[in-house]
Amino acid sequence: MKTFSSRLKGIIGATTVILMSCAAFAAPVGLPPVPVPADNPMTPEKIKLGDKLFHDARFSTTGEVSCSTCHDQNKGFTDGLPVSEGIHKLKGTRSAPTIINAAYLHTQFWDGREPSLESQSGQPFLNPVEMGLKDHEPILKIVRSDPEYLELFSQAFGKTGDQITMTEVKQALATFERTLIGGDSPFDRYYFKGDKTAMSPAAIRGLEIYVNQGRCVSCHRIEQTQALFTDNRFHMIGVSANQMPKDLDELSAAVQNVKEKGTDIAVLTNPKTSSLGRFAVTRDLTNIGAFKTPTLRNVELTAPYMHDGSHKTLEEVVTFYNNGGRLKETDPVPELLSGGIRPLNLTEEQQADLVAFLKALTSPEFAKKKP
Ligand code: HEC
Ligand code: HEC
Repeated sequence: MKTFSSRLKGIIGATTVILMSCAAFAAPVGLPPVPVPADNPMTPEKIKLGDKLFHDARFSTTGEVSCSTCHDQNKGFTDGLPVSEGIHKLKGTRSAPTIINAAYLHTQFWDGREPSLESQSGQPFLNPVEMGLKDHEPILKIVRSDPEYLELFSQAFGKTGDQITMTEVKQALATFERTLIGGDSPFDRYYFKGDKTAMSPAAIRGLEIYVNQGRCVSCHRIEQTQALFTDNRFHMIGVSANQMPKDLDELSAAVQNVKEKGTDIAVLTNPKTSSLGRFAVTRDLTNIGAFKTPTLRNVELTAPYMHDGSHKTLEEVVTFYNNGGRLKETDPVPELLSGGIRPLNLTEEQQADLVAFLKALTSPEFAKKKP
């Protein structure tokens, strides 16, 4: 096991290890400063605690599942599965997004049902197909008695015993996640640093298609000085169109499921309810089947793709967009499709170039496997 500081350096790059209790955390090329909430400043002690909590499998009923089971640093902080597997290999309905750069997102989860990293981090413990706990008590029991945790909570928050609550657990997890920042890709060096040799000619042609004929940039945004590759908005692009409720009865059954079980459990245990996307959160009919635009940074490392993991490769994703939101040209055009999704008429070579561009978004420190 490497020491904490060398791991942190490995993760965020030696030059960016600047920890300050200020409103922002220094970021690599191509990214803005990391937003940090005023009531949860970054400190090395809190990061170290969050790191341990993130990797601790004791917070699941089987003692086998931790956050890092599904957000594995050797797999781009996802799990390489179409849909995640929690305790007893129980399958959910959705693909684990990478949490690299989740610190920048305006909302968390594919449907944006949680507003912050702090609030998000309490959910997986209680989800029956993830970590399966009935309530947070078993976690508190461990952190209030384990000597190593007592030491870490004391250093990070100046709290001990019963003073330790889920608020501190969630704050520490969120703080650790705010160190998982990936920029400095070949694209960043090409685009923001003017290094014309940083990207291959195919990737350079792909960038042009990305911005123009492909119109990818209208949702996966690139700004003047930085690029998050998301607009933080929700769109129906045609994924899992065949799972969507077919009539009002099915729709109201899905809504009833959300009301009874709560959104987090309902969407992760029922594919029909999951396919409602943002609608399950807002009940706004224009949000049916709409999901959050994911970042494309490090997308080469995070197959399979889409909220339901239904696309195996980047080539498949590009074919899907080229067909206007359909894997096969012969598939019916999905209902409620976002206006931005139309056939693109890209040649085979242009599609290959677009894939080359997507592969130029990998941050060097996350591409390497860690012991
Ligand atoms: C069993 C697998 C599993 C475990 C365990 C798990 N996650 Fe996740 N995580 C997922 C899946 C699947 C999603 C997407 C769910 C959705 O959008 O409805 C997700 C979403 C997230 C997101 C939102 C990212 C985004 O782009 O919106 C964050 C942040 C996150 N998880 C952090 C954590 C933390 C912290 C823990 C531990 C407390 C954890 N996860 C445990 C599978 C898992
Ligand atoms: C109208 C907005 C919009 C446009 C335009 C758009 N995307 Fe997307 N993209 C999304 C949304 C929303 C998702 C998630 C959809 C889902 O899972 O249901 C997504 C998912 C993806 C994914 C999967 C990422 C992952 O982690 O699973 C890739 C790759 C991708 N888009 C690439 C592209 C490319 C390349 C283009 C241009 C050809 C493009 N997108 C155009 C909104 C858009």
